[in-house]
Amino acid sequence: MTIGVFDSGVGGLSVHRALVQRLPQADFVYLADQANAPYGGRPGEEIVDLTRAGCERLFEAGASLVVLACNTASAIALRRLQQTWLPGYRKTLGRPVNILGIIVPTIEAATGLPWEHEAERRGDKVEQLDVLGVFSTQGTTNSRVYEIEIDKRKQDLAVFSQPCPDLVPMIEADAGVVELAKAVEGYVQALKTRIGRYPDRAVLGCTHYEIIADIFRAALPAGTPVIHQPASTADSLERYLERHPEYDPGTGGGRVFLTTGQPGPQNGLVQSFWGGPLVFEKA
Ligand code: DGL
Repeated sequence: MTIGVFDSGVGGLSVHRALVQRLPQADFVYLADQANAPYGGRPGEEIVDLTRAGCERLFEAGASLVVLACNTASAIALRRLQQTWLPGYRKTLGRPVNILGIIVPTIEAATGLPWEHEAERRGDKVEQLDVLGVFSTQGTTNSRVYEIEIDKRKQDLAVFSQPCPDLVPMIEADAGVVELAKAVEGYVQALKTRIGRYPDRAVLGCTHYEIIADIFRAALPAGTPVIHQPASTADSLERYLERHPEYDPGTGGGRVFLTTGQPGPQNGLVQSFWGGPLVFEKA
């Protein structure tokens, strides 16, 4: 069996890379739904349908687990699919399969607390606030998932989300560094204006942004800690596989890259992040 990694496009490669480093013997199939990217501005029902189709394709390709390496799909579709689709689909398939997201591990890393932790409700005003800036797609920002889930667990961590709607199309279209830096600077300044200062820490809450993490680091004050979503996801997957031996990650070290879009070599920005040629096959 294999591990499936799903994203609307090339962003999930940042997570894939961390997963492969952590589990080099496992077999991986990556699926980019580039025919339908970006997801960030789509209605929720469409995101649910597209994510389900992507997962189905990966399960058909032999995945036992699918990692949604996409914040937008994790925020909007994951719970719905786990509750309403997976139980019946498992029966049809006749084997254990599951879908994991990337928001839980990111919030665990941001709070330093396990997901099961519940904050004591304190009623009184919290004086000492640490401010976490979350850069994400419009869909993830609108879902308020980071605000809601962090508030349940850690009340002295305030979350401000900043939508960056232009970045995914720019990264998918191989935009130049100067153009990307200008866009990122605009989003960082917009967040700063809303908070009244720079955030103390940041999450690149869209996997595409990890491809241009250096540009974000340059736009934030020097030394601002940026929570590394791919590493948190790799930690979490490793622990999950230890607890759930029923999900077989394979042992052949296979690497397959599929796209619903145009097959062939990925763009220059992506290949320079990847550190070499990267060719996608038709899904
Ligand atoms: N990489 C996806 C994410 O993490 C991008 C979603 C999109 O296609 O807008 O949210």
